[in-house]
Amino acid sequence: MALWGGRFEGTTDALVWTFNQSLPFDQRLWREDITGSIAHAKMLGRQGIVPESDAAKIVAGLEALYADLASGAASLPPEAEDIHSAVESMLFARLGKEVAGKLHTARSRNDQIATDVRLWLRTALDELQSELTKLRVQLVALAEANLGTVLPGRTHHQHAQPVLLSHHLLAYFWMLSRDDERLADCRKRLNRLPLGAGALAGTPFPIDREFVAKELGFDGVCPNSLDAVADRDFAVEFCADASLLQLHLSRLAEELVLWSAPEFGFVELADSVTTGSSIMPQKKNPDVAELIRGKTGRVYGDLTTLLTLMKGLVLTYNKDMQEDKEPLFDAADTVTLCVSLMHRMLETAAFKPERMKQAMRGDFSTATDLADALAADGVPFREAHEIVGRIVRGCIAEKIGLEDLTLEALQAYDPRFTATALDAITPEASANARTSQGGTARVAVEAQLQLARASLEQH
Ligand code: ARG
Repeated sequence: MALWGGRFEGTTDALVWTFNQSLPFDQRLWREDITGSIAHAKMLGRQGIVPESDAAKIVAGLEALYADLASGAASLPPEAEDIHSAVESMLFARLGKEVAGKLHTARSRNDQIATDVRLWLRTALDELQSELTKLRVQLVALAEANLGTVLPGRTHHQHAQPVLLSHHLLAYFWMLSRDDERLADCRKRLNRLPLGAGALAGTPFPIDREFVAKELGFDGVCPNSLDAVADRDFAVEFCADASLLQLHLSRLAEELVLWSAPEFGFVELADSVTTGSSIMPQKKNPDVAELIRGKTGRVYGDLTTLLTLMKGLVLTYNKDMQEDKEPLFDAADTVTLCVSLMHRMLETAAFKPERMKQAMRGDFSTATDLADALAADGVPFREAHEIVGRIVRGCIAEKIGLEDLTLEALQAYDPRFTATALDAITPEASANARTSQGGTARVAVEAQLQLARASLEQH
């Protein structure tokens, strides 16, 4: 069964075979493995490394195998050592060893696996970016729809200043846009062909790596054969990008969990994306948001696994590197699923502007505006801050909010207050006063929305 039987007299211990075997997890690379082999076989024929007629038979055999595996007419032999052996043994059965045995000329499993994984990750990246774009589009649409909604913006988790819900949602849009840029950047370094490096040192056969690169949609070839088979930077880089993306999802998920708690009531998620309790009949739990938050830990774990896996390895290929696949697959699967579930959850989100407004009653979140009003009339801001601090203290003692103050009451604290101060301290006025570039005023958020739409057009 093994591809390397010739040198061995004894048989492999059964437990060692299982321990060594990667087919249980690398079988999902079958498409990439066959596609890579087709390009390699075409090149071998074109270069006269194997007879053109044999190369053509190999290509046709591989294409038929691909179709049969895709339709379920054929399945991988479960006892094979890895995906490469599995595909090759099936090709042997179909074409005979005279022809099929020529496919592995000028190639090693070391450059083959590096190629397979890069091809796989490229497709996974495309899928992830397409899901991410959907989520970014959705955030822009939600921001457009909620320009009239104000909620308490927070620092230290305390009410700080009123902000537009649109502004808050767009903050996540920009985080996810940076993630998208990072993924696009990762793709550039990923999209280089390792095949042709052989086991580590290159090959004496007159191969044409540029041809294979083009066939497989790579932008070029890895320039150093040792680096080509030893490098897993692309996997680490992807997991780092995925970790940061997952971190952003997790923060948004946490806000949704919090906002759907009764004390907040800022959002209600639909029945389709929430679940109940087996004991407490009243419960409607935001499990999807909680799981997105929870799964962040495993993506970080995948990154840590890869970094730790690679850190002490001498050049070039080491069997340790077989352990790269499970964390990489897991990170890609998890983050892509979480992006699409975040989208699904937000689709049902019913925001509650009234509750947000209620939350700002008596919360002093427009105290800065009161100080700004004095400062605008020439009072030094530090002095204005002190005066308003005293007003807040007085209101707390009287158990009233800023909105309950009359002009007379304000002037009792400081005669320099004018009627404009009262107009300035509604949450809407406060938010809409912040017209600075990137600020939360409606005009500034509308300008921001234009930038967001332009950024969507780029990606
Ligand atoms: N299953 C191996 C892996 O995933 C494929 C490459 C094996 N190369 C070798 N020389 N044993 O890394």
